[in-house]
Amino acid sequence: MTFSQKNIISIKDFSKKDIKYILRVAERMEPIARSKETSNLLYGKILGMLFYEPSTRTKLSFETGMKRLGGNVIGFTEAAGSSMTKGENLADTARMVGEYADSIVIRHEMEGAARYVSDLVDVPVINAGDGAGQHPTQTLLDLYTIKRIFGKIKNLNIALIGDLKYGRTVHSLAYALALFNVKMSFVSPKELKMPDEIVHDLNKIDVVARETENIHDVLDKVDVLYVTRIQKERFPDPEEYQKIKGAYLINSELLKGTDLIVMHPLPRVDEIAYDVDSTPNSKYFEQAFYGVPVRMALLKSII
Ligand code: CP
Repeated sequence: MTFSQKNIISIKDFSKKDIKYILRVAERMEPIARSKETSNLLYGKILGMLFYEPSTRTKLSFETGMKRLGGNVIGFTEAAGSSMTKGENLADTARMVGEYADSIVIRHEMEGAARYVSDLVDVPVINAGDGAGQHPTQTLLDLYTIKRIFGKIKNLNIALIGDLKYGRTVHSLAYALALFNVKMSFVSPKELKMPDEIVHDLNKIDVVARETENIHDVLDKVDVLYVTRIQKERFPDPEEYQKIKGAYLINSELLKGTDLIVMHPLPRVDEIAYDVDSTPNSKYFEQAFYGVPVRMALLKSII
């Protein structure tokens, strides 16, 4: 794909070649992201941020990336601070920001919101998470992290664990890993299994992930344990959440003797004990940093 002025809505729109291209550009961005070099590549450009759902990493890494490249940002982090409170709808808000900015980043609780907005505005739109749908920029930084640590993605053994039903990061990541001949396992309570649609899509391209409820079925086999939070906010019934919360706990005792890496898109709640932070297995803070060069690579390529 030619990235100039392209929307970044779903990882399914990326080929393996597209992903590898962004990872290569991200590598070049890393010294700028680390403040070892400076750049004015996006001087005079403005990124519009529409965050209807809370965010720490995605929002701040986009802001950091834009500013490290000499650009600027506008936007809001909760609908309460915008004219939505006066009754303005998403379409009108997006049309306005599309006039002010050179690109829009949107996070919204409604699946499909980013694609909807991309049909209304003339500037490229980046999906920063749409409900339980997709989170393509998170996937790119996840892949970048794996590549940086292992020097490759191909042929690794990777388990996605936790809330595979509502977790948008694992939905996007499963599609991307399928392009890299990765051996995948899905570990979740049966109520939070990977959606059938995704399993079916993977099967269609001959990718069959092992599905299990028991982490011990995969622990001694995997290179990467990709842990996710149980997405409390997406449960229609709070009682169901109460029953399932705390289903898995990754702690240093569990990891003893393994050399797998633990990744997590963050925020964590109670699924990774704090004693894991100081182990060599823990890579989730490094992973969060890589959001900056990867998002810089995307901004540079599309704006
Ligand atoms: N990983 C991720 O999307 O984090 P935030 O919700 O803090 O943006």
